[in-house]
Amino acid sequence: MTYLPTLPTPRLIIDEAKLRANIARMQGQCDANGVALWPHIKTHKCLEIARMQLDAGASGLVCAKLGEAEVMLASGVRRIFLAYQLVDPETQAGRLRALADALDTLIVAATSFVQAEALGRVLDRAGITLPVLMAVDTGLGREGVRGLQSAQATAAVIQAHPRMRLMGLYSHEGQAYSEGVDRQMAAQHCVESLAAVRDAIDPALTLWPGCSVTADLAAALPGVHAVRPGTYVFGDLWLSRLTGQMSIAETALSVLTTVVDRPEPGLAFVDGGSKSFSSDKTPEGVFASPADERDFHITRVSEEHGWVTGRQVNELQIGDRVAWTPAHVCPVVNLADTLTVVNEGIVTSEWKVAARGKVS
Ligand SMILES: Cc1ncc(COP(=O)(O)O)c(C=O)c1O
Repeated sequence: MTYLPTLPTPRLIIDEAKLRANIARMQGQCDANGVALWPHIKTHKCLEIARMQLDAGASGLVCAKLGEAEVMLASGVRRIFLAYQLVDPETQAGRLRALADALDTLIVAATSFVQAEALGRVLDRAGITLPVLMAVDTGLGREGVRGLQSAQATAAVIQAHPRMRLMGLYSHEGQAYSEGVDRQMAAQHCVESLAAVRDAIDPALTLWPGCSVTADLAAALPGVHAVRPGTYVFGDLWLSRLTGQMSIAETALSVLTTVVDRPEPGLAFVDGGSKSFSSDKTPEGVFASPADERDFHITRVSEEHGWVTGRQVNELQIGDRVAWTPAHVCPVVNLADTLTVVNEGIVTSEWKVAARGKVS
C-alpha cells in the first residue's frame, strides 16, 4: 500500500470518491430534467475519467481540438462535439474525416460568418457532411455570432452548404466566472439569448449552453437540449469560493506540495510554482488555497517556487505537506503527466493525462 506522505511532490491528487460524486451530481441534475450531458474533456484530458462520465450516462464528449478527440476515441466514446473553429483544409480535413469515420456522430462548430465559410472548405476537402452547432456570443466576446443579423447571415451560409446540417445553437458563457455572480440570472440570460436566435432562424434548432457555473441551472430551463460543462468534474477556487457552484470540500483535485523554505517570518516556500499551478489566479491574486481551508495562500509564483503568505503561515515547517486547491484547475492538469488517485488516504491508481498538450 502506498500512502500520500511517501510520494514525491509536487503531484496532482484525485480524491476518487469526490470525483465520482461530482460526476453523479451533474448527471443527476441533467437526468432529472431530461437534458443531455456532454462533458467537456479539456478539464481532465484523461481516458479513465471520460469513461466514468460515459458510464454515468453522458450522451457524448466535447473536445476543443482534433488531437483531444483523437485521444478520446480510446475511451469508447461514440459521439463527440468539436467545439472549436476548424478553418484549415490542408492540415485538418484528413484528420476530421478519420475522426468522423471512427464515430457514430461527430458535430462541428460554426462560430461566425467567415469561419462558417472556412468550415465549409474543410468539409469539402474532407468529402464528408456533418451536423453543425452554431455558436452565439452571450457576453464573453469570444466565439459566436454577435446579434440577430449576423446569426441569420451565418445560419444562411450553413444551411446553403451541401456538407453542413445546422442542428442547433451553442454558447460558452465564460463571463459567468465572476465573483459573487448570480448563477440563476446568468443561466437565464444565456438560455434566453440562445432562444431568441433560435426563434429568428428555426424553432426546431436545439439549444446547447455550456459552462460549469451555470450548467446545473441551465439544465432546468425550458428549451435546453444539452449542457456542456467541464470544470465541474474537479472544481477549483473559481467554481467554489468565487461563484459558489460547489464547496471547497467538494473539489476533487488538489496539488500536493512540500514546504521547502521558511526564510523569514510570514513567508514559506513550497516546491510548486507556475510549472505546477499555471499563471492563472483569482482576482485577489491567489494562485491556490489550502484544500483544508487554513488561512494562508500561494500569492506569487516563479517557475518552481510558490510564495505562501497569510495569517497561519508561521505554523508551517520545512518538510510539511500541503494540499492546494488551484484557482483554475484546467491548465494545472495540462501541466502534469499523471493524476494520482487516492481513496481514503491510500493511493489506488495512477492515471495518465492522455490528451495533455494536444493543442492542435
Ligand atoms: C466551448 C466550451 N464549452 C464548454 C466549456 C466548459 O466550460 P467550464 O469549464 O466552465 O465547465 C468550455 C470551457 O472553456 C468551452 O470553451
